[in-house]
Amino acid sequence: MNLKIKVLAVAIIAAVITSCGGEGKKEDKVSAPVEEQKTVVEETDPLKDKGVGPITNITLDEIDQAKADEGKAIFTAKCTACHKISKRLIGPALVGVTTRRSPEWIMNMILNPEKMVAENAIAKALLAEYVAPMANQNLTEAEARLVLEYFRTKTSAEDE
Ligand code: HEC
Repeated sequence: MNLKIKVLAVAIIAAVITSCGGEGKKEDKVSAPVEEQKTVVEETDPLKDKGVGPITNITLDEIDQAKADEGKAIFTAKCTACHKISKRLIGPALVGVTTRRSPEWIMNMILNPEKMVAENAIAKALLAEYVAPMANQNLTEAEARLVLEYFRTKTSAEDE
């Protein structure tokens, strides 16, 4: 009986030691600073910064007004609680956003705002300025693309 208990105790101690060792190793890997360095390089030209998220490469053609209109409907339903085109609300005014950010960055900000404000230098600076975090409205990639098309039509202050 006693022997059995001893064996069990040794087994438990061994298991605890092994699992602690395992966690220690995992933490070492997580702290590798590769991603951070990339962000700093991209920060120098905001239009080259594609942000972090599912969108890596967007090709823009002529503005498609029908798609922009669909994007406007999505924007009105999902974004105007915090954004206006022409003036600051809870988030930044979005007039001219396509002239200061890359299309990939804009779509990643819409689709992946949690990671953007945690890891992307421009988004981090915006969060510091606006304090409230940009909300993930769970748009599909296709919907985010339509909203981007709408933003492309809003490049000057006269556009409401
Ligand atoms: C809960 C409020 C809220 C909602 C809803 C919201 N946003 Fe935002 N958005 C923000 C804030 C605040 C920021 C600034 C970054 C930050 O603080 O996280 C921001 C930043 C942005 C930016 C970057 C602007 C810039 O100047 O670079 C874009 C683009 C954007 N939002 C688009 C959208 C779209 C499109 C929607 C709807 C699908 C939306 N947002 C919904 C609050 C919101």
